[in-house]
Amino acid sequence: MLKIILFLVLALVLITGAAGGFHLYRVKVRNTREMEQYSGDDVVMNRNLGRVLVVYYSLSGRTRDIAERIKAKTGADIYEIKTAEEIKAGPALYLKSKSDLKKGSYPELQGTIPDMGGYDVVFVGSPIWWYTAATPVMAFLEKVDFKGRKVVPFSTQGSNAGTFLKDFERMAVNANLTGYQSFNNIGKEYDRAVNNKISAWLNSLTP
Ligand SMILES: Cc1cc2nc3c(=O)[nH]c(=O)nc-3n(C[C@H](O)[C@H](O)[C@H](O)COP(=O)(O)O)c2cc1C
Repeated sequence: MLKIILFLVLALVLITGAAGGFHLYRVKVRNTREMEQYSGDDVVMNRNLGRVLVVYYSLSGRTRDIAERIKAKTGADIYEIKTAEEIKAGPALYLKSKSDLKKGSYPELQGTIPDMGGYDVVFVGSPIWWYTAATPVMAFLEKVDFKGRKVVPFSTQGSNAGTFLKDFERMAVNANLTGYQSFNNIGKEYDRAVNNKISAWLNSLTP
């Protein structure tokens, strides 16, 4: 009996490992194909989007990187969403954020949210947590009135943004949503391609 149980456990571990490996492989292939599209000549950002604000939350720097590049290309003001209590990365965050997202319980934020009235376009960037926006971004969306501004959401994620856009749309009061873009985590070797992807995306937005 013990042998059968051990065999089943081992089989389960092997199947899960193989499925995980296959998933990672497929993501890598998809990412590489996407980046190849942007690996040609440098794409120059050629739009004037008016007065731009970039709002973002970032725990480990990926979303900050995209936000900073948008700022550099558009001359935007930038606003980092910060929580009153520091959120620490680690296994406990996975458990807590899952339960908080389920309950709709979001962290308290630090500082004052800028007045959206002063901007033509507001970019809002979030890491994906559990297939939706990170809880600090949910907290921000719960508080802010976009006052009819053009709002461009963007996300960074391992591979799956899930229902981010749908949830964002539901939460973003008085936003005129347009031009969502998503960025999978990818190695530094694709830095230039990511830069081109951002420029092409910005050029596709109507001022
Ligand atoms: C709690 C938690 C949940 C996550 N859930 C997802 C997910 O559902 N899908 C996904 O593709 N990536 C997921 N990730 C990975 C992050 O979205 C990804 O690494 C993101 O780019 C991190 O952004 P940051 O460096 O700006 O914090 C998760 C990360 C954390 C910490």
